[in-house]
Amino acid sequence: MKHPLDFTGRTVFVMGGTSGINFGIADAFAANGARVAVASRSPAKVDAAVQKLAGHGVGAIGFSADVRDVDAVKAAMVGVQEAFGPIDVLVSGAAGNFPAPALRISPNGFKSVVDIDLLGTFHVLQAAYPYLTKPGASIINISAPQAFVPMELQVHVCAAKAGVDMVTRVLAMEWGAQGIRVNSVVPGPIAETEGMRRLAPTPAVQNAVTKSVPLGRLGTVTDVANTTMYLASPLAEYVTGAVIPVDGGWSLGGVSVIGDSMATMANN
Ligand code: NAP
Ligand code: COA
Repeated sequence: MKHPLDFTGRTVFVMGGTSGINFGIADAFAANGARVAVASRSPAKVDAAVQKLAGHGVGAIGFSADVRDVDAVKAAMVGVQEAFGPIDVLVSGAAGNFPAPALRISPNGFKSVVDIDLLGTFHVLQAAYPYLTKPGASIINISAPQAFVPMELQVHVCAAKAGVDMVTRVLAMEWGAQGIRVNSVVPGPIAETEGMRRLAPTPAVQNAVTKSVPLGRLGTVTDVANTTMYLASPLAEYVTGAVIPVDGGWSLGGVSVIGDSMATMANN
């Protein structure tokens, strides 16, 4: 019997899949046998990603597309269909972020993030729909804790990612009858990523973030890829509309009242 995490013969499309967490997801699917397509704005990043993915000996293809450009997104979907056939797994993870207080975010700055994260997600899912395997397709939106944890300097991202999770929930309802599952994965602080470089730019901030994670470490790209593969697999065939943190407990937002020495005492 085929292992549930063997994606041989499956087609996976990762929007925004040319760097960081999303590339890690594309790479994990390729390592487990899938044909993989990726897309993002930079042709150089697309080419580099496709070259690495093809190194797994699987079909790999890439498209240069901005999620804000509906026609470019549609063209990428047509391209995937022509190259690989129907899309079994769609990961939507293109996003933009910069830390800034609300009063220093221009209307266009706010709009840019909402356009990329929220409208972009809608464009990707709507454009993909005709090409999704029905029944059986799995859609995974890459969200962020900002969707449900209010965070200073992140009003634009909080608003946008909260919307992304609602897109997940509503389309899980609307498309359930077609056998399409829609879920969100919510990465926490993930080491060595652009998101962390922007939000935790110094070792001191990174240490503070690490200390605030109940499991006591930053996440890895592999942590996120593993949950994404689970959601795309038959192991999750009854899971839809879920918003799943992969964050070592960070988004629990609990208040720690015991220091290190007290923690040692409490655990002995
Ligand atoms: P990243 O490396 O900057 O990844 C973003 C990807 O999206 C890149 O491939 C980028 O490529 C693409 N992209 C950006 N704007 C785009 C646009 N307008 N159209 C199409 N593609 C676009 O950042 P990351 O930190 O790994 O983040 C990846 C995802 O995880 C994001 O959804 C982010 O919100 C989420 N997340 C990250 C963290 C973290 O700790 N890093 C935590 C929570 C959630 P191009 O530049 O070529 O377009
Ligand atoms: N503080 C305040 N405003 C900022 C800013 C910052 N640090 N960075 C950008 N902006 C504003 C710009 O000033 C501009 O507004 P304006 O026209 O009123 O001046 C607006 O945001 C758009 O900036 P621009 O650089 O033209 O947009 P873009 O479409 O080229 O890039 C971003 C989009 C800004 C989100 C860019 O950071 C990006 O491409 N990010 C992708 C990678 C990323 O963020 N990865 C981490 C994911 S978690």
